[in-house]
Amino acid sequence: MDHQPIVKPPLDQFSVPPNLDNWKTRRAAHNWDAVRAELDGLPNGGGLNLAHEAIDRHANNTPDKVAMRWVTAAGAVEDYTYADMKRLSNRFANALRDLGIQKTDRVFVFMDRTPELYAAVFGTLKNLSIIGPLFSAFGPEPVRDRLQHSHARVLVTTPALYKKVGQIRADLPHLEHVLLTDHGVTVPEIPGTQPLDTLLDAASEEFEIPPTAAEDWSVMHYTSGTTGKPKGAAHVHSAVLGHYLTGKYALDLHPEDLYWCTADPGWVTGTSYGMFAPWTNGVTNIIYAGGFGARGWYRVLQDQQVTVWYTAPTAIRMLMKAGTAVVKSFDTSALRFMASVGEPLNPEAVLWGHEAFGIPFHDNWWQTETGMIMIANYASQDIRPGSMGRPMPGVEPAIIQHNEATGKYEAVVEPGVEGDLAVRPGWPSMFRTYWEDQERYASRFKDGWYLTGDRARRDADGYFWFVGRSDDVINTAGHLVGPFEVESALIEHEAVAEAGVIGKPDPIAMEIVKAFVALKDGYAPSDSLRNELIGFARRKLGPGVAPREIDFLPSLPKTRSGKIMRRLLKARELGLPEGDTSTLEDD
Ligand code: PRX
Repeated sequence: MDHQPIVKPPLDQFSVPPNLDNWKTRRAAHNWDAVRAELDGLPNGGGLNLAHEAIDRHANNTPDKVAMRWVTAAGAVEDYTYADMKRLSNRFANALRDLGIQKTDRVFVFMDRTPELYAAVFGTLKNLSIIGPLFSAFGPEPVRDRLQHSHARVLVTTPALYKKVGQIRADLPHLEHVLLTDHGVTVPEIPGTQPLDTLLDAASEEFEIPPTAAEDWSVMHYTSGTTGKPKGAAHVHSAVLGHYLTGKYALDLHPEDLYWCTADPGWVTGTSYGMFAPWTNGVTNIIYAGGFGARGWYRVLQDQQVTVWYTAPTAIRMLMKAGTAVVKSFDTSALRFMASVGEPLNPEAVLWGHEAFGIPFHDNWWQTETGMIMIANYASQDIRPGSMGRPMPGVEPAIIQHNEATGKYEAVVEPGVEGDLAVRPGWPSMFRTYWEDQERYASRFKDGWYLTGDRARRDADGYFWFVGRSDDVINTAGHLVGPFEVESALIEHEAVAEAGVIGKPDPIAMEIVKAFVALKDGYAPSDSLRNELIGFARRKLGPGVAPREIDFLPSLPKTRSGKIMRRLLKARELGLPEGDTSTLEDD
């Protein structure tokens, strides 16, 4: 540890007593049945339904409490109570039912952060269909891959975003209904689409959620791997136990909180912590529709009196760049707790939080597949800057290594050793499959462990320290990008013979997507071709996925079996030793 720990005061000095008062005793006493007892269950013993626990439970008890405060980029505010959210999601559930959409059918949302998005998510969950969120900055190809693979029957989107869908519609034979909405503005008549508002107006406000089993499907998030197209990590309704408990312990949510999660709802943080954790904990959830900007964000913190803020390292580093004085020109004194996820949070950023806001950022670690926070720095516990923290109650992570003698993966007992970060299966929000790819799902489990794909160390006091990924997946601004997806898009350009894609270290975004391209005969490298390729990829993939840099090479290094050696491209880019190149094909 290079930095001094941030020592927390005794419990009686907290203005709001932390829910997780003592990490050790809460872990020792943990029991998921006791957590279940804090939730409701559907009337008549119908089980845990995510939408009931997040919305209807509170609509029944505190109907007039503001559930969602929607803040536009221009600063306009619309409040929705828990009762409003219940009615709106009931209408959406009825609209789905009227369309004949059934349990387990896939319903996708491709929208910016508008109230209709949230009604669609909970309405889908009430109908026991599977909700699949899509990042609104995606280009047509990532949208096509996901809708095609999941056989989505319904897509809810806006007229503006439908422009990206129209061009791929012919590739989506299973997509029966495209529902357009524009937050109250009448949508244009576009062939092959229906206005959502018309369906909602005709739908009843009453909806009885069908009995929901613990293992009924709930949410599906596509996530990238090293090879192949993105995989649909699918979750179940009983995951709500994990959303609720991590909201309570890792984000220290109390019902009186005004909470803001900056993640986009197209990614898992935007659902698990933009919707499920806050609403199961009964808070007022601030939804800011605007984009990133230091002043705009501080204005939200100030004007909305945000008490708990969950954001990400790239954003924090950009805020640091804007300077501490900008923070100080706003009143952020309502803030009680700040957390971060998605990439390594450098110690400087943790400490900058302290300097700028008077409280540190609390890093935590999890994945699309884990569905909930697994390792965290807690309000009551000292922070070791640079560490992801310690495991949640009910979660058993370990550093494991392959033992050549026994042929098995085994947990490393001694501290300080680098190895694969693994977790004992059994936490409620664990993904249950990669959709239609059970084989790949099974490959993530070895010798009784779930293999996360990350490398890490654990210190003597049980704090985990991130080391890196063990695969080629790129983490750019907290979003995972599969190199294969980007390579596939590039080779569709007429000039490109082969493409290899890596993550290039970047001081702000952690990594940027960088491509190496070999051209077909008859094409020559030039700046204009480079710009054309970047533009081509951006139109197909969207700006967050497309490469920011392209280098031309005469040919790409490949194994004898023809696989592009991304590891070697990366080593050469970084000027590092090339490692074992014995499988490299001869030129
Ligand atoms: O590599 C780790 C990194 O992000 C991956 C998970 O990304 P995704 O499935 O998109 O989930 C996003 C929601 C958390 C991890 O395997 N990662 C996440 N949190 C951290 C992190 N790396 C370092 N420190 C973290 N706190």
